[in-house]
Amino acid sequence: MYVDLHVHLRGTIAPATVNRLARRNGVAIREGTLRAPGYGWHDFPSFLRVYDEVAAAIRTARDIEEVTYEHLVRVGCAGTAYVEFMLSPPHERRVGISFADQLAAVDRAADRARELTGIECCVIATAVRQLGPDAAIDSAQIAIACRSPRLVGFGLTGNERMHDAADFRPAFAIARSEGLKATAHAGEHLGPETILPAIEALGLDRVGHGVRAAESQAVMAALARLGVPLEVCLTSNIALGVCSDIGEHPIAALAEAGCVLTLGTDDPGFFSTTPAREYELAKRAISDPNIEARITRAAIAAAFCDETTKARLLG
Ligand code: ADE
Ligand code: ZN
Repeated sequence: MYVDLHVHLRGTIAPATVNRLARRNGVAIREGTLRAPGYGWHDFPSFLRVYDEVAAAIRTARDIEEVTYEHLVRVGCAGTAYVEFMLSPPHERRVGISFADQLAAVDRAADRARELTGIECCVIATAVRQLGPDAAIDSAQIAIACRSPRLVGFGLTGNERMHDAADFRPAFAIARSEGLKATAHAGEHLGPETILPAIEALGLDRVGHGVRAAESQAVMAALARLGVPLEVCLTSNIALGVCSDIGEHPIAALAEAGCVLTLGTDDPGFFSTTPAREYELAKRAISDPNIEARITRAAIAAAFCDETTKARLLG
């Protein structure tokens, strides 16, 4: 049984689906972008540009419902029991779908997918780092204004090189004061020295990626002591050049140091991966026969959903 705690809803869309939505919505997508599989990008900045272009094909709540349903049914039929989607309120500014309508679309899709496959899902509203701290406050306010049972967390995505994590303290304070749990991308592209300050400044319950902690014994030891889970995305790390190949990935060192590990697909439409594949890679990298069950148990404990859902997942 698999759990995916780190997946961007927009990142689940396969090129064929983007093509369909773009045609339906009359949105032009550059020729090179739709190069399948996984779109035409070559480094992290160009990845983020293509990411926005792909997102621009989504124009309606119906599109969001379709994309959510497609992903949940695909992974739900292949052994995934729980997913936490990251969804970005700033997107509404661009295409005019309110965040409440985005959440309602995810809800409809999630109800239908649960009926078909039993899969559960929740949502993390995310601020985008390169849009800056004020936009993040805006995102937090939008998120807390439209609480829905599936909205359980607040997160920070995007380019780690833009702004210090501490600049986003006010946005996270707003979200956390309303009971949302917190996660942020850190220690993906920047080094281990950025991880503990992000946890401290933003009150993080989990860290998105955090794998560069492995470059510092002290940071790994602190993470293990704090018990703050990492959302490790193996295929993404290789695709985006965080490490050169799976043999070079530090997941085994992180496990050895006692860090709490969970797995994510990040952007499965871009990286041609699935939760099953991420678990398979982790099993190959870590020599512990119980690693699959251990990761799933850790992920359920680290999930932002309520205790009733956790009990159902564990039962
Ligand atoms: N948004 C989508 N995928 C991302 C990643 N891997 N890192 C930061 N922001 C992202
Ligand atoms: Zn991510």
